[in-house]
Amino acid sequence: MKRKILVTSALPYANGPLHLGHLVEYTQTDIWVRYHKLRGHDCTYVCADDAHGTPIMLRAQSEGITPETLVARMQTEHLRDFTAFGIGFDCYHSTHSPENFAISQEIYRRLRAGEHIVVREIEQAYDPVAGIFLPDRFIRGTCPKCGAADQYGDSCEVCGATYSPTDLLDAVSAISGATPERRPTEHYFFALGDFSDFLRQWIHSGTLQEEMANKLDEWFATGLADWDISRDAPYFGIPIPDTQDKFFYVWLDALPGYMAATRRWCEEHGRDFDTYWGADAESEVYHFIGKDIIYFHALFWPAMLKGAGYRLPTAVFTHGFMTVNGAKMSKSRGTSITAAQYLERLEPEFLRYYFASKLHPRAEDIDLNLEDFLLKGNGDLVGKVVNLAARSAGFIHRYGGGRLAPSLGEDTDFYRELAAQREGIGAAYAERDYARAIRDIMALADRVNAYVDRAAPWLLAKDPSQHEALLRVASTTLNAFRLLVTLLSPVVPQLARRSLDFLHCPLDWDATAEPLLDHDIAPYQHLLQRMEKTIVDSLIASPSSPASEAPKTKPTDQTPKTQAPGGSAEGAEATPTISIDDFTRVELRVARIVAAEAVEGAEKLLRLSLDIGEDKPRQVFAGIKAAYRPEDLQGRLTVMVANLAPRKMRFGLSEGMVLAASGPEGGPFLLSPDSGAVPGMRIK
Ligand code: 2FM
Ligand code: ZN
Repeated sequence: MKRKILVTSALPYANGPLHLGHLVEYTQTDIWVRYHKLRGHDCTYVCADDAHGTPIMLRAQSEGITPETLVARMQTEHLRDFTAFGIGFDCYHSTHSPENFAISQEIYRRLRAGEHIVVREIEQAYDPVAGIFLPDRFIRGTCPKCGAADQYGDSCEVCGATYSPTDLLDAVSAISGATPERRPTEHYFFALGDFSDFLRQWIHSGTLQEEMANKLDEWFATGLADWDISRDAPYFGIPIPDTQDKFFYVWLDALPGYMAATRRWCEEHGRDFDTYWGADAESEVYHFIGKDIIYFHALFWPAMLKGAGYRLPTAVFTHGFMTVNGAKMSKSRGTSITAAQYLERLEPEFLRYYFASKLHPRAEDIDLNLEDFLLKGNGDLVGKVVNLAARSAGFIHRYGGGRLAPSLGEDTDFYRELAAQREGIGAAYAERDYARAIRDIMALADRVNAYVDRAAPWLLAKDPSQHEALLRVASTTLNAFRLLVTLLSPVVPQLARRSLDFLHCPLDWDATAEPLLDHDIAPYQHLLQRMEKTIVDSLIASPSSPASEAPKTKPTDQTPKTQAPGGSAEGAEATPTISIDDFTRVELRVARIVAAEAVEGAEKLLRLSLDIGEDKPRQVFAGIKAAYRPEDLQGRLTVMVANLAPRKMRFGLSEGMVLAASGPEGGPFLLSPDSGAVPGMRIK
């Protein structure tokens, strides 16, 4: 029976690039959606950028642009990466959209009409210099428990203690450095407790994995507290109806973002929104999320929907986090790999395949082990699957005029037996047990490879009287290949498309019940190249350049040298002191190296493309080629002199300088801000 299914992934924040950790979820969801579409269901996949909140507002401010410009740029970048990874959204929308304003405000009005909204005065930390109320994350100070300095306002990264910002010793605002004040302000709350009985029952009604439902039970023990859903201006968000200067807290409009994206898609495709979200909607609705946001999706969201008279999700599927080589992703270890960094080096299919081989229906973490990744991608996808086509296509062209045999003869049963495994593999996809699906598909690939080894077509080719048998074996192998890529198509859609184009046949699950016979195929072309170990290794950025690449000569004058004030560098003459005014005339900014490449004809130079939050990147020639490989610089933050008069060089215009240290001990060493800095920030 044809089902009507709506599927979502969590909405990524519009204040940073996608990294491989994000892609676990989008890959998991995309595979599920592709599988259901392949089986003929009416399945729709929607998502959006999560565009609101203080961090986005502040980032836009520091880049000197409006939040609208920032979120539009991030949306383009996100969509570019998603598309490259084959994530096939039917609609990718934004929470900063007319649909979302309307739906979020409508939900609020209905909750208010149902008397689920309470208004109370509370005290909140306020930054008197920046003129804004401070979220906990923007207050820093000394941990009251262990004394560690510079900790967040809600928890200590050193001892793990959680507390409220008022407990911090020597609290300061992370925005201005000012000491926060306590100020009274009126806030709006959603009375979650009104839904306590309903939620307790709902989470145990088959909507969540049992482990997640059990975890949520803890929340009921102390009673469900009211949820603070308002923030004071200035805030980049959706205004609360009938207030002067109150906005919805970002999560209150993020969740309705799922509905806003659905509405947009319905409008574009002439569908009825109510059949997806109305109280009696016939469609199924599934949310894929990470375990860190289960509270929002399994408590706040169902309560909001229930209170506002909409349908409830059919199920919420929770996955774990991704680790890299067994450890948490970390910028300092270089394991926080962005989607763009991956795409510069490797085919998306390898990562999708690897994630699939590790994903199961539970919310356990999954590890990206780069050695295993290399072995699986090359061994399974190239070695066991693509090679089947590479080894057989030549025979069909050389001895069969490019046409598959009219019958598989005695191998027909072998093919049918393989095809009979489809249902079990399909069930594994539907149950989100992709690890099992992959295991079963690879077991089939092993059987096909064993068949080829036994039939030894290369020997049959030597004997003209065996050419009919040869065509039968090659045709059976290519049919098995077609079956395998069809089964793998939810996981590796781009490889499947190339493979089926080569076989001149559409992607069709049902059609693989029978083999393709008497059918022309295209000449074989490479479908997937093996991965090189050095390239896989380069995914993890090396913390410093290898000694062998240390510069043998002094850097050229494109690289200024840093030095202690008033000191002298490399035995140059003493530099006269300068006034503070002289110093402030130099505009230093955080820059992101968006591209780096060698310059033809220049021994020491790299051409850098630097994002400093302006409309287009600046081009700078830097004398750092001896110390850095261009590909290692991509994505890295550095410091740039932004108001240096542009200088015409033989190779083009240099529009600034990057800062690097060097001395007799080595260098140049590019300067970098700590993580958290964003392109365009002033250095002062
Ligand atoms: O945790 C996050 O990254 C959020 N941006 C997810 C939002 S999901 C949904 F509720 F919008
Ligand atoms: Zn602590």
